[in-house]
Amino acid sequence: MTPKYHRVVVKLSGEALMGDLSFGISPEMLDYVAEEIKTVYLRDVQIALVVGGGNIFRGVKAGAFGMDRTSADHMGMLATVMNSLALQDILQGKGVATRVQTAIHMHEIAEPYILTKAMRHLEKKRVVIFAAGTGNPYFTTDTAAVLRAKEIQAEVLIKATKVNGIYDRDPEKDPHANRIDKITYREVIEKQLRVMDLTAISLAMDNKLPLEVLSLKETGSINRFISGQTVGTFINS
Ligand code: GTP
Repeated sequence: MTPKYHRVVVKLSGEALMGDLSFGISPEMLDYVAEEIKTVYLRDVQIALVVGGGNIFRGVKAGAFGMDRTSADHMGMLATVMNSLALQDILQGKGVATRVQTAIHMHEIAEPYILTKAMRHLEKKRVVIFAAGTGNPYFTTDTAAVLRAKEIQAEVLIKATKVNGIYDRDPEKDPHANRIDKITYREVIEKQLRVMDLTAISLAMDNKLPLEVLSLKETGSINRFISGQTVGTFINS
């Protein structure tokens, strides 16, 4: 089946790499995620990844226990670099050409974020992993994902997470909760559906970037979405 999308950004939460562990990177989960990405990659879809760092360090939480928010966010951004390098390593091992670009310069470890170079990598069939968020404190990796998706002119940002979309009620509390297939940015904001932080969702809305929220745990979910199937919740105007 011809893919419906040809250039996408996939946002992975740091927790996604944690699997059943309570901290760090689960090798099994890393392998699983890489296989999911590889399946899409093999369909000639240009893919960029943005990964969080919450499996290693959570800036917001550390801020809450008294740590200076800027320092905490710097640590969180470094955590995303670790996750990005782990993803690059496993993807390369599976024959998926990958380049990591960091928003904070660390030349010895990875190339810096340069939009034109990122575009060239994508055209050359390389998965590009954008690490270190936006390079600024106070911005989440979701915001970084929206920003990068717009910059590389991706058709959609796929947020691959623990839940398979947005529900009309809390599915953990109400067994009759229904998944919403489609919703507008405005509804997400007005109903305070915590799918992304307000900065990220507003940036997507202002710049008309479609968002898809789906579950990484459902094998093949990203690939099915790329084929045009209804998988999780699609957000647009
Ligand atoms: P093309 O020029 O399109 O072929 O891209 P390329 O990435 O293969 O070529 P380049 O010569 O830019 O990079 C070769 C290798 O060095 C790649 O693995 C890059 O990721 C890596 N690289 C490039 N710039 C940097 C940098 O500033 N720091 C680090 N650590 N690696 C870099």
